[in-house]
Amino acid sequence: MSHELLASTFDQWSRDGRAAGMELEHGDVGAQVIAKLGVRAGEQILDLGCGNGWATRKLAKLGPGVQALGIDVSPQMIAEAERLHSLTIRARYAVGSFERIDAPDAKFQRVFSMEALYYAVDLEAALREIARVLKPGGTADIVIDYYKDNAATACWASKTGVPMHYLSESEWSAAFARAGFAPVQTQRVIDSRGPGDASAFTPSRCYPDWATWKSVREAGSLWIRAHKPKPA
Ligand SMILES: C[S@@+](CC[C@H](N)C(=O)[O-])C[C@H]1O[C@@H](n2cnc3c(N)ncnc32)[C@H](O)[C@@H]1O
Repeated sequence: MSHELLASTFDQWSRDGRAAGMELEHGDVGAQVIAKLGVRAGEQILDLGCGNGWATRKLAKLGPGVQALGIDVSPQMIAEAERLHSLTIRARYAVGSFERIDAPDAKFQRVFSMEALYYAVDLEAALREIARVLKPGGTADIVIDYYKDNAATACWASKTGVPMHYLSESEWSAAFARAGFAPVQTQRVIDSRGPGDASAFTPSRCYPDWATWKSVREAGSLWIRAHKPKPA
């Protein structure tokens, strides 16, 4: 897999208007996690795989002097983020990849990522980069819906046309631990809207019936909180 394939896939998603749909789909869980981050005044935050930048803008508004940078491999997503930008929000956006983040070592107190890290071309390199750009004592807060313990999501790989890392909760924890993070904590976050209205449900290839769709919402999103240790 290559960054070119990812960029062209997500450029097309953006042209098809899917970025706003992702904001709607991920917004509830994203807002729940962002509200619990405990961001302090003046912190620098990186949003990896920012899409149209909705979370980047939320993060930048968390406190006085907080600054957020959204990175995405898709130039169209970044163009959309810039279109939606407001000059009163301390957020910036850049085209870039998880595997090579254009930032100095120890630049950020926090790295956030919503529904994106499993697309990494090289997951180990991406985790190394996250560790590199975080300050000691900083945290990576990664939220994903596509993980093995949420079994009905297995079908997504055949839908997107790009390779995706399908790991279990414990495999994600182990991957962060191997990259030097400690402790690594995980929890599930349930969308407060529930599965929605059963009478409005339309079957699809991945969700052939209501019970399958309901199981995805009941499993919830996986929130991985990985701490970069301070030197002893
Ligand atoms: C499912 S979308 C989620 C977007 C946004 N976080 C949200 O919740 O709406 C995944 C995003 O990650 C980006 N992405 C995927 N692989 C990437 C990589 N290796 N480096 C940088 N961005 C990547 C895609 O371009 C896409 O915009």
